[in-house]
Amino acid sequence: MIKIAPSILSADFANLERDIQAVSSADYLHVDVMDGAFVPNITIGVPVVNSIRKCTDMFLDVHLMIEKPVRYIEAFAKAGADLLSVHLEADHPTRIAEALRLMGECGVKKAVALRPITKAEAILPYIENLDLVLVMTVEPGFGGQAFMEPQLETIRKVRAIIQQYNPACELEVDGGIAPKTAPLVVEAGANVLVAGSSVYGAADIPGAIQALRG
Ligand code: DX5
Ligand code: ZN
Repeated sequence: MIKIAPSILSADFANLERDIQAVSSADYLHVDVMDGAFVPNITIGVPVVNSIRKCTDMFLDVHLMIEKPVRYIEAFAKAGADLLSVHLEADHPTRIAEALRLMGECGVKKAVALRPITKAEAILPYIENLDLVLVMTVEPGFGGQAFMEPQLETIRKVRAIIQQYNPACELEVDGGIAPKTAPLVVEAGANVLVAGSSVYGAADIPGAIQALRG
């Protein structure tokens, strides 16, 4: 089953509760945390996740685009995240492993995320311990960018690794997902589709979510 994860990066932050309710027919709520260091943009922090948790029962998929994410795992878990993803490029492998260990200790689902430059094989040391792998299909930092078609090959390779070592692991894609690109990433092996501008930019938001399911 294909899951849709609308990204609130494209919501109106002054009307966040309204814009969260608007996507309640989706499966996950994707929350983009950016620190102005790992990526050039600054977005949401722990207090906002805490407030979001109070206004929805949706599964909170929190994408940490921050340096040394191990520092914030417990705080985001306590704030109500259901899943945390850390970028493999954001720290040394031992501290990525430590971040995953802390997620397990806090009872949240464990994910790693890959920038477009990172090879699929980079997930090999962690794969048996993951609930989800997030493959970026744009350079992280901003919504509304064009889908990077060469990433279809990375999605295929990640799917092959998942099938071999941990078939229950989900494969999420993020960036430039719209009705035209969704079938391509699904064919390549993705099962969770993040979509910001194509959902929030639509006149009929539930219709846009349904269209992405294919
Ligand atoms: C980008 C974020 C994405 C972003 C996707 O760094 O990780 O989640 O919201 O936006 P669209 O769907 O507009 O490309
Ligand atoms: Zn994201």
